[in-house]
Amino acid sequence: MTLFDRVFNGSDAVYGLTEGAINAAIEKHGADKEVSFPNTAYSLPCYYGVTGTKVTNLGELKDALGVAKSLMTREKRLNDAFMSGVATALCAEFIEVLKYIDGAEPYSEPCYGHLADAIIRELGVPLVTGDIPGVAVILGKAPTADDAAALVKSYQAQGILVTLVGDVIDQCAEKGVNMGAGVRVIPLGKDVTAVIHVVSVAIRAALIFGNVAPGDAGALMKYTFERVPAFVNAFAPLDDVVVACGAGAIALGFPVITNETENIFRVPKSLIVQEDVSKFNATSLEARDIKIKITNIDIPVAFASAFEGEIIRRKNMQVEFDGSRVDCFELVQTKDASEIEDHKIEVIGPDFDEFEFGSKHSIAYIVEVAGKSMQSDFESVFERKFHSYINCIEGVMHTGQRDMIRVRISDTAFQAGFRAKHIGEVLYAKIKNDFDAVVDKCQVKIYTDADKVTELRHNLAIPAFDKRDDRLKSLTDESVDVYYSCILCQAFSPSHVCVVTPERLGLCGAVSWLDAKATNELEPNGPCQVITKERPIDERIGEYEDVNEAVRKFSQGALEDVSLYSIMEKPMTSCGCFECICGIEPFSNGVIIANREYAGMTPLGMTFPELASMTGGGVQTPGFMGHGKHFIASKKFMKAEGGIERIVWMPKDLKEQVADRLNATAKELYGIDNFTDMVGDETIAEDPETLLEFLTEKNHPALAMEPMM
Ligand code: SF4
Ligand code: NI
Ligand code: NI
Repeated sequence: MTLFDRVFNGSDAVYGLTEGAINAAIEKHGADKEVSFPNTAYSLPCYYGVTGTKVTNLGELKDALGVAKSLMTREKRLNDAFMSGVATALCAEFIEVLKYIDGAEPYSEPCYGHLADAIIRELGVPLVTGDIPGVAVILGKAPTADDAAALVKSYQAQGILVTLVGDVIDQCAEKGVNMGAGVRVIPLGKDVTAVIHVVSVAIRAALIFGNVAPGDAGALMKYTFERVPAFVNAFAPLDDVVVACGAGAIALGFPVITNETENIFRVPKSLIVQEDVSKFNATSLEARDIKIKITNIDIPVAFASAFEGEIIRRKNMQVEFDGSRVDCFELVQTKDASEIEDHKIEVIGPDFDEFEFGSKHSIAYIVEVAGKSMQSDFESVFERKFHSYINCIEGVMHTGQRDMIRVRISDTAFQAGFRAKHIGEVLYAKIKNDFDAVVDKCQVKIYTDADKVTELRHNLAIPAFDKRDDRLKSLTDESVDVYYSCILCQAFSPSHVCVVTPERLGLCGAVSWLDAKATNELEPNGPCQVITKERPIDERIGEYEDVNEAVRKFSQGALEDVSLYSIMEKPMTSCGCFECICGIEPFSNGVIIANREYAGMTPLGMTFPELASMTGGGVQTPGFMGHGKHFIASKKFMKAEGGIERIVWMPKDLKEQVADRLNATAKELYGIDNFTDMVGDETIAEDPETLLEFLTEKNHPALAMEPMM
């Protein structure tokens, strides 16, 4: 049998199953029955991406099947095989969506099934920074469970996002592999059709970040080929259905690596036979051209970005340092080079062995750095990275910052030999590695002696934090001479440019003006460039000739001009990875804000994913704006339209997160006390009428303002 026969057979088989399943569903529920995946604005994302049509009910799904059939041409040419592969993928999506009829939850632990739009948006930043260097799709049954576990762990150790389909899931479970989105190993489902849930991620990335027009199949495939670093590992024996799905993967630009040797012919760079499963990792990375950054750190447990989301439960906790109960802190201090012995790590106080299992203690770690180009402004930039550094240690969890930190060490990490000095090893290695352009020497002091920590917290750390806060308060858009561009997201969103100012951080929430300044210093030709602000055009909306010139240049002409302070006039673009989206609410003259974590409805009649789909891909959309959480309390938030007084609704959780700062800004700007009490949330209203009643009762200031449109 030729490869063509296998693809066509597999494709026909899936088509037959899909047709049967759709007919049965229509018989049972009627053609008008609604169908869709949950938590997405893209209906059936793969079908929508490829054809531009949103399927809403079973009748339309049946029509869609006819369209898929038309792709299944049977000439023995590569293109026919690829298109049949795409059609097979679409059929898989149809079969999967049927599982979600009537709000069913067809997947349960450990499988995820369909992944929400919000998860894809969250992946944006780690993918562009190379923190997630690739996406592996592992399919089928490995020769042994040990092979499966070893392959998954090898990718995990490289930070690669792993998705699993089929028997490999049980094999990993058998070997106790830690699975879940938090550790970047996502079991999708046991049926082969579950593979569509990762294809759907790649296709939505093109729609969300890439501004690819739905239905432009050519642009879609170009995008996934060039910008989504995914690849497939398919274990032998491959049945024809898997071969057909593989053809679909190759059409999207994802190489398939398999240990199948029977009835397969190799397609250079696309279909690669690697008989030795232990070499799948190396072969895959080479085929997809993925480079891994290696930091060698001398610790007894693994260190990888995949462990950043790992959670350590109380019962597995060897020891905990909890800054909310006892004195704890973390601090970076600039010193003179003569005061530092490079790579010196000191532990002052008892080590972990001397603590009882499950007990709580004080800890402080001070990282002292010296360098000719070091500036005190960078101390907080380094320090904020500690959260990620310490979290990347397998078996160690870190939350918070400054003197409100919590660190948990697991029993397994402890048994592997992890001790206090290893925290120092990690901080030393990462600081030297990430900030080598400004840090010449670095040493770390770790204090576990409670009295010493208390003394240092009050006499050293708190005064240092206070001093920094004063500096941050004095940093306003007016007080600085330059802003910065950030184009990190162009890897996915080719024309997007963030303009980062002291009072407006990047929309991902991860890049403040100080971060951008440090990035520029570390990498003068990197993503953050200086933008002068010498030629203002319109102070009201925050428009500058210098800024316009910069965005024209950095967007390669895709963008003409942007304002810093308006959502209606020349608003800044969005890439897709924004923490929050703000959109106008016409009945109240106000705006509502929804954050990525919010899963419910908003008074605009749209969920976060639906609102988010209104903007993105580096395009200006007046009336909608992606932004960082921190921006909500800024005096520059929509200043041109009247500022934060326009905010009429936010999810309750977000409101609580920003309340202190937002209320302080409202008091300062307008003399309003407890402004957040006037702002609606989902417990008050999810529709515009109820919201308006609430706002009227509270006499919300937006009601008296000029209409925005
Ligand atoms: Fe992307 Fe903007 Fe954040 Fe830079 S600041 S990483 S461009 S969202
Ligand atoms: Ni104290
Ligand atoms: Ni982005």
